[in-house]
Amino acid sequence: MSKRLLSGVKPSGRPHVGNYLGAMRQFVDLATTHESYVFIADYHALNTLQDPVALRSNILDLVLDYLAIGLDPTKVTLFKQSDVPEHTELCWIFNTITTMPYLMRAHAFKDAEAKNKDLNVGTFDYPMLMAADILLYSPDLIPVGADQKQHVEFARDTAEKFNRIYGDTFKLPEAYIPTDVATIPGTDGQKMSKSYGNTIPLFGTDEEIRKAGMGIITDSTGTTDPKDPDVCNVFALHKYFSTDTLIDLDARYRAGTIGYKESKEILVDNLIRFVTPLRERRASLAENMTTVKDILREGGIKARAVASVKMKAVRERVGVTV
Ligand code: TYM
Repeated sequence: MSKRLLSGVKPSGRPHVGNYLGAMRQFVDLATTHESYVFIADYHALNTLQDPVALRSNILDLVLDYLAIGLDPTKVTLFKQSDVPEHTELCWIFNTITTMPYLMRAHAFKDAEAKNKDLNVGTFDYPMLMAADILLYSPDLIPVGADQKQHVEFARDTAEKFNRIYGDTFKLPEAYIPTDVATIPGTDGQKMSKSYGNTIPLFGTDEEIRKAGMGIITDSTGTTDPKDPDVCNVFALHKYFSTDTLIDLDARYRAGTIGYKESKEILVDNLIRFVTPLRERRASLAENMTTVKDILREGGIKARAVASVKMKAVRERVGVTV
């Protein structure tokens, strides 16, 4: 039997290049060799997005994004977290075996708390819902960016704790984080993230991509001065989108025969060239939203068939089945 992959993305806004390279592209590449479960973490998004119109449209947008980048719904089970109520059910059971001091160690909680004292319980409990997302499916591979490493470790600890209390039930999960895409830098060189305002939208218009790309922060080295590609925020993205000419670009940086403006223009052109066929595919898929909704519904049924078997075992283990 082939190994099982599971991962998800929150529909809290439009995916950016970091989401794509760090996670979504792996789903496509690995789907050929893995039995794949890819989902939309809509209940996680509710923590920060309390606008039903926006959430509904983000969910459908994300399905289109997944399909447009090449996820094949005949091979991958593509579903929405909220269509499989076992996720929230198992989260509750995990809440009962998890302590507050333990959850207070989460980086995401600490960051959120530092910014917002009126933090909601959903944000605090984020790792337990994520543990449920993962452990219901016993995945072998969980492709995520480096920022999700701790969350997967929380899932692992929770599986161990449950197994210790109630007997062997969950497979211990491990994150799959290829080093070259673990942390994709944004336009300011920090991790690309919606909350830092440094993103390049994956499915942006040419103008949006150009605006983000030309806004990449560079130092003051003059156009004809030698430059170190290893510390350049533009070159950091050339590594993903200008692979054919990377050696040449590297040499031009070092020789001082390229300025940052030209480098950015090349990057933007390459980004647009890369995304154009995906955008076209996306536009044609968007013409038939009934099919798109059917894909999601059928994926939910398939995912639930797996999740409900595990949840039945959990109910028996904890003693609520009489
Ligand atoms: P989310 O929606 O914030 O991000 C989706 C995926 O994109 C990765 N990512 C990055 N990778 C590299 N460089 C970056 N700059 C970058 N920015 C984002 C994230 O690491 C993630 O893999 N908690 C998850 C969603 C989730 C999930 C799960 C994932 C919920 N349940 C179970 C796996 C398994 C999240 O917030 O993703």
